[in-house]
Amino acid sequence: MSKVTVVGAGNVGATCANVLVCNQVADEVVLLDIKEGVSEGKAMDIMQTASILGTNTRLTGVTNDYAATEGSDVVVITSGIPRKPGMTREELIGVNAGIVRSVTENVLAHSPNAIILCVSNPMDTMTYLIHKVTNLPKNRIIGMGGALDSARFRYFLSQALGANANEVEGIVIGGHGDTTMIPLKRYAAYRGIPASSLMPAEQLDKVAADTMVGGATLTKLLGTSAWYAPGAAAAQVVAAVLGDQKRMISCSALLEGEYGEKDLCIGVPCILGRNGIEKIVEFDLNEEEKALFAASAAAVHKTNAALA
Ligand code: LAC
Repeated sequence: MSKVTVVGAGNVGATCANVLVCNQVADEVVLLDIKEGVSEGKAMDIMQTASILGTNTRLTGVTNDYAATEGSDVVVITSGIPRKPGMTREELIGVNAGIVRSVTENVLAHSPNAIILCVSNPMDTMTYLIHKVTNLPKNRIIGMGGALDSARFRYFLSQALGANANEVEGIVIGGHGDTTMIPLKRYAAYRGIPASSLMPAEQLDKVAADTMVGGATLTKLLGTSAWYAPGAAAAQVVAAVLGDQKRMISCSALLEGEYGEKDLCIGVPCILGRNGIEKIVEFDLNEEEKALFAASAAAVHKTNAALA
């Protein structure tokens, strides 16, 4: 029996629940929201796809009823306000910190052994806040950002190469911010062939730049923050954990000296399994990449300072 709770039935939370159901990632999924009727309605709508899609996952929607989340193996926190066009993720900190703090306390009261996946923005800082609030071992708290940013990098690479996104490798590390994320161009590849040998440097630079503002571009187009890829990226992390996949996914993790940084959560390649972040993989960065990572970490530290 595996059980997942998704807190927040907004676009991202509901999409995550939908992907968890479609892909039958867990036996049971609970979708919780503070707005009366919203999670119940979305869960019912999603469950009416079950016979069409042939899934046996049971999804239930509840209004603020944390007792229903009891015994969850993984809890996904998507609560908080999304950004509007022109806003940065960092501007959400004041409102979202209070929400994430109380949600975390509520979920842990009912699922003391859960692995927590943070999706709320500013994601690296909210992940760090969860560490501060809970003092849980670092493997049990995962921030989703790098999974999404890497998916966007692979999308833009695939567009530039005219190739399938799932045959393209690309990993993004650093903060989940428009100026802090670091698409690792040197490690991008199409079936092992370095992307740098398949397109001019300027084109690869543009792919990286488009990736960095990937969220902002969608916010501008949609009038609110994106949800299909963020929700699917969260579900991908849940699947890696529940399935003990030992899969390498870039996630925001608490660093204790890895990549020369400590006392912050930031995107790094992680091996995900049933124990959450089972290993942080240290890529061999060149001087330029090291400098970018140090600058990214400094920016995340600055945002974290606003928590005090
Ligand atoms: C994005 C938001 C979810 O990048 O941070 O679309």
